[in-house]
Amino acid sequence: MKTRILLIAAILFTAFSTAGNARQKPRITILATGGTIAGAAQGAASASYTPGVISIENIIESVPGIRDLASLDGIQICNISSQNMEPAIWLKLLFTIDSLFTNNLADGVVITHGTDTMEETAYFLNLTVKHSKPVVLTGSMRPSTSLSADGPFNLYNAVALAGSASAAGKGVMVVMNDYIFSADDVTKSNTVNPMAFSSPNLGPLGYMRDGIPVFYRAPLTRHTVNSEFVISRDEHLPQVEIIMSYAFSSNIAIKALIETGVDGIVLAGVGHGNYNRDIAEELEWGYARGVRFVRSSRIISGGVDKAAEEFDAKYPVAGLKSPQKARILLMLAMTQSKRSSEIQRIFDEY
Ligand code: DGL
Repeated sequence: MKTRILLIAAILFTAFSTAGNARQKPRITILATGGTIAGAAQGAASASYTPGVISIENIIESVPGIRDLASLDGIQICNISSQNMEPAIWLKLLFTIDSLFTNNLADGVVITHGTDTMEETAYFLNLTVKHSKPVVLTGSMRPSTSLSADGPFNLYNAVALAGSASAAGKGVMVVMNDYIFSADDVTKSNTVNPMAFSSPNLGPLGYMRDGIPVFYRAPLTRHTVNSEFVISRDEHLPQVEIIMSYAFSSNIAIKALIETGVDGIVLAGVGHGNYNRDIAEELEWGYARGVRFVRSSRIISGGVDKAAEEFDAKYPVAGLKSPQKARILLMLAMTQSKRSSEIQRIFDEY
């Protein structure tokens, strides 16, 4: 009899402790979009490869120990090279995340993504996801078939970060090569090296160490639940393009964009957001036609502020936002207002 009681007690203890462990593991959903992390090459040392060919199930299975971190689900949103990203995919990501969190189906979300436009998807979601649960993007610079592929560890770190309590409330993040970056200021800064991402102005938020995030700062600009932008499922985002400045750059491109009827143009100026006199009258003409301009810079750090060499309140300045980030913020700002003062307020706060 005593043996039977002990056996039942042992079975119950094991059942509860296992259930408890299962309850303790965070529920992480991985939304896969493609990129090099889903890429394959002919040879393990081959530099050329095809991105976006491996399924999320196979990617997850290629990472030993990842299922010890979290209870994982995978959703294949698409399987593309991220230079081919589309607004419809942004909206699908946004509303899939919203559904997962609103219905309490996940404790965190990881997005696997090509690195070429990862910073843009991350920034769009940073401004539109209305939840404080972690959303973490990651990818890789080498295909999964490569010698010392970087994707498996990046995915391991992304799942670990998305499952950590300290990641909540910090906005959308990017984790690559052990570094944790804010979607707000991360940018791809190397075309081929696994250390491909940086935050030239403010540095990383922190680091991953042995699957544990170590944070040294948090973003102070507005994001996620503190963002004013509300996007509908069938939102038609304003068309905003970028014009780069350089020595004796002509007015051909900016004239064509204004004539085409774009909604906004970001000027990637030289130096502190400067542009040559040959396009100054195009700015006036475009402004009169309702085009809204924001002045950023082609320089990777320092940004453009009002205390610049030249400043005209009609043309808001982008602060620390790179041209590609300023484009996204101007798109969302123009869903709210076309007043330059209101656009400038938004650039000052986000
Ligand atoms: N075609 C690039 C992209 O999908 C590959 C770069 C990468 O994912 O590292 O962004």
